[in-house]
Amino acid sequence: MDPTTLKGRSVLTWLDYTTEEIRYFLDSAKRVKEESRGREVRRRFAGKTLALLFEKRSTRTRCAFETAFGEEGGHPVFLSTADIQLGAKESIEDTARVLGRMFSAIQFRGFTQATVEALARYSGVPVYNGLTDDFHPTQVLADIQTLEENCGPAPGKKLCFVGDGRNNVARSLMVICAKLGVHFTLITPPALNPDPALTARCTAIAQASGAQIRITPEIREVEGVHAVYTDVWASMGEEAKKEERVRLLRPYQVNQALMEQTGRKDSIFLHCLPAIKGEEVTAEVIDGPQSRVWDEAENRKHTIKGILLATL
Ligand code: CP
Ligand code: NVA
Repeated sequence: MDPTTLKGRSVLTWLDYTTEEIRYFLDSAKRVKEESRGREVRRRFAGKTLALLFEKRSTRTRCAFETAFGEEGGHPVFLSTADIQLGAKESIEDTARVLGRMFSAIQFRGFTQATVEALARYSGVPVYNGLTDDFHPTQVLADIQTLEENCGPAPGKKLCFVGDGRNNVARSLMVICAKLGVHFTLITPPALNPDPALTARCTAIAQASGAQIRITPEIREVEGVHAVYTDVWASMGEEAKKEERVRLLRPYQVNQALMEQTGRKDSIFLHCLPAIKGEEVTAEVIDGPQSRVWDEAENRKHTIKGILLATL
């Protein structure tokens, strides 16, 4: 693969990327992590600017973009939608046109995928999806990096997501696993299945990579997996659905008994964070020996820097 073909591209969903391209980003992130353990100061983003647009809150994604970009001499500018005109007084298209004249790239976190797509279409600069209602691509790249650090090369590994099967993280995991040949089991009540069009698309992609994609309500399907993953029961913007979700998802809590059902002592626990301990996961599991969530959070920075280096 010729890495120069990645220059100038946006990262909106991994559906837009080939297996080889995603692997390139992972290799880039691995190099970046190794470099981070040394003392050398690099200035690879000197003279560049990055707009960080946030409609929703963030700790990890904001800090990962700001530190990854800023420590290499780039100038990140945080813009919450409480401060700028995005979609309020000015259309997304016009905001995109203006930001594209001033910034080298744009990160967007917010509600609709249509917004991040419009930013990419009208700004003329690379746009990174830092989470929408539909996808969270930079998160799942860090998740695969963490899986590989603990379990070896991704192809043929087994990862299951237990919880809200239609949320941004579950959907993004299904996509990246299908692309990279990771067997993906989504354990979720049928009411929370992802949309059939995405599942069909991932199933077709998986045929090429050798991954198996399964969707099931049965918790016993965790048997044999290398990694158990969960996320909050009500995502940002879905607060009104909380009660209904608790009712649907209480049987799907990741606790020690569920971890033991994997039948593997070396299986790891992953969570994109923030977590609500006592709901989707018990403190015993997330703070326990199988948890890799802090490495996973750190890897957000390395994978984001890997993406920035490859595309800018
Ligand atoms: N995992 C993640 O995206 O965390 P933040 O919401 O804190 O950015
Ligand atoms: N599904 C969660 C992920 C947070 C990083 C949300 O959208 O709130």
